[in-house]
Amino acid sequence: MRTVPDFPKPGISYKDITPLIEDGDALHAATDALHGATKHLEYDRILSAEARGFVFGTALAYRARKGLILARKPNKLPRETISASYDLEYGTDILEAHADSVSEGARVLVADDLLATGGTARAMCDLVESAGGTVAGVAFLIELGYLDGRSRLKPYEVVSLITYA
Ligand code: PRP
Repeated sequence: MRTVPDFPKPGISYKDITPLIEDGDALHAATDALHGATKHLEYDRILSAEARGFVFGTALAYRARKGLILARKPNKLPRETISASYDLEYGTDILEAHADSVSEGARVLVADDLLATGGTARAMCDLVESAGGTVAGVAFLIELGYLDGRSRLKPYEVVSLITYA
């Protein structure tokens, strides 16, 4: 992990995860650790958000032999979508998923690279519930504990591997 000051704007301390992704052993170890920390959860599919979330969502889906649902920025998905808006650490945005990706009663593990304010993950949880699914848990590689995003994810079980206090 590399911390980049004042990106994408002054005052933001950006946690750059690309060094970990570029290192084969680190990526492998992180994926195995994420799998180990979530294997007690019962879920049918994983839901992850573009773009960095796809890296770990895909790796975990492969490791756990589960399907991956893509949460995308607006107007990227071709069929009927459901959507949820969210506040970022720096801005506001909308996530969309295909309306038929989460079936009634499906158990979904929400997975992302990083928990900051919790807005992105909360939006993904809202997507799951709006489609009639159940959030099996929410998993992150990195948690910025000082932003307390975890409090926005109650009552779900939150798993994170590395916390910046
Ligand atoms: C980052 C990160 C998480 C989100 C966490 O994604 O990958 O998805 O922010 O922030 P939050 O807890 O405050 O919502 P970003 O929206 O920057 O998109 P990117 O992955 O395309 O860079």
